[in-house]
Amino acid sequence: MLSNLASDSGKRSSLHGHWSSRMAFILAVTGSAVGLGNIWKFPYVTGQYGGGAFVLVYLACIVLIGMPVMMSEILLGRRGRRNPIATMALLGSEEGKSSNWSWVGGIGVVAGVLILSYYSVYGGYSLAYVLKSAAGTFSGAGAADVIAVRDGFEGSWKAVGLFHTLFMGLSIFVVARGVERGLEQAVRFMVPALLVLLLALLGYSINSGYFAEGFEFMFTPDFSKLTWEGVLAAMGQAFFTLSIGMGAVMAYGAYLPEETSITGAAAAVAIADTTIAIIAGLVIFPLVFANGLDIDAGPSLVFITLPLAFGNMAGGIIFGTLFFILLTFAAWTSAISLMEPAVAWIMEHLNHSRAQAAVMMGLSIWAMGLGTVFSFNILADFTFFKGTIFDNLDFLTINVMLPLSGLMIAVFAGWVMCRNSSADELGSAGTSYKIWRILVRFVAPIGILFVFLKSSGLLEFVENAVQRISGAS
Ligand code: TRP
Repeated sequence: MLSNLASDSGKRSSLHGHWSSRMAFILAVTGSAVGLGNIWKFPYVTGQYGGGAFVLVYLACIVLIGMPVMMSEILLGRRGRRNPIATMALLGSEEGKSSNWSWVGGIGVVAGVLILSYYSVYGGYSLAYVLKSAAGTFSGAGAADVIAVRDGFEGSWKAVGLFHTLFMGLSIFVVARGVERGLEQAVRFMVPALLVLLLALLGYSINSGYFAEGFEFMFTPDFSKLTWEGVLAAMGQAFFTLSIGMGAVMAYGAYLPEETSITGAAAAVAIADTTIAIIAGLVIFPLVFANGLDIDAGPSLVFITLPLAFGNMAGGIIFGTLFFILLTFAAWTSAISLMEPAVAWIMEHLNHSRAQAAVMMGLSIWAMGLGTVFSFNILADFTFFKGTIFDNLDFLTINVMLPLSGLMIAVFAGWVMCRNSSADELGSAGTSYKIWRILVRFVAPIGILFVFLKSSGLLEFVENAVQRISGAS
């Protein structure tokens, strides 16, 4: 899918070739975006933070912050045409500012590595559930049975560790061979197939007798249930699900041909990604109510609700096996994009072959992942700050690192880069450019900062201090 085009119209061309078509690029970014974030993470955080109001904030974050930041990443990537660290350094000095902007790329690469360390563990869950479904473990199961299966799996570090190892092996394998090979075909098949299975599951959910309850939970906002921590989680989820704030999209943008519309590509990805997440929610919540399950069950929510559905429907063994195969595929295409920036960086800087870089990086990520593997069993009682090792990694990466580097990407594209440069990439004439520029200069940065200040309690702290000072004088 990447063909080596000569530099067109005197502009830089990528070191690694170009996407063969606009569709190839959209498919690759969709493959990165659609993953565990949609089917595993979105339902459980929505459950934890009370439903409707959380979903509304999440959707607002997708449109007002996610879209403009995604467009910025693509345009920066296409302009720099290097790995994210080198691109930020190059563009920084090109705009007459500092090459220290490379730090933004650096935070992103580290975030990707940290995210993959636990992402791989949940990719491993999905893989394990392929086998459990195929073996008929869930046939006729009740709620207590699927919870017992989950507890049995989670309680064994050997089982969780084994599937984490397998999943990481799959990811290393693809990255070592070169990302482009086979990815396009895989995504072209996987995303529609996943959608079809989700729609079939939706049919099951609608017939569960509790669809109205699930629908209401997701779409009737009750702001009294929403905390600032929930708002922060909704914003983090918007970054996580769109794969932005770490340079993955920037890395893919580096291979995008000049003439492609960035706005159109970003909109297509955001719509596909959001649709899948919403349908996943509409499948899962009615099942939670129908079976009297715990709505804030946390990260294993999907591994309780769906096996229960598969266990009690006609053809559930085939259906369930297929579903978890597709989920594993979706996680796999995302894992690749989490690893690629770090591997590209090692290749370009330490002069290793792609295969060597992938294995080195993959083994390090695998070792870090053991922290998450153990946080469900032997280290379950080892808690600090936000909870277990997994809870802390999850919070630090999704709620802090992604929005932070997203903020800096927005500031760079909106303020550091001159108007001519961004207009050149986005096409200056349209209203879409004007809207993008307002979002990226004001709405996104101020929104991100405000949510950070509110959720950390810093804003109250400052307000109180100001009041005390003004009261004293
Ligand atoms: N978006 C993916 C998901 O929803 C996860 C992911 C892949 C990601 N690449 C990323 C998240 C880069 C943040 C940054 O499952």
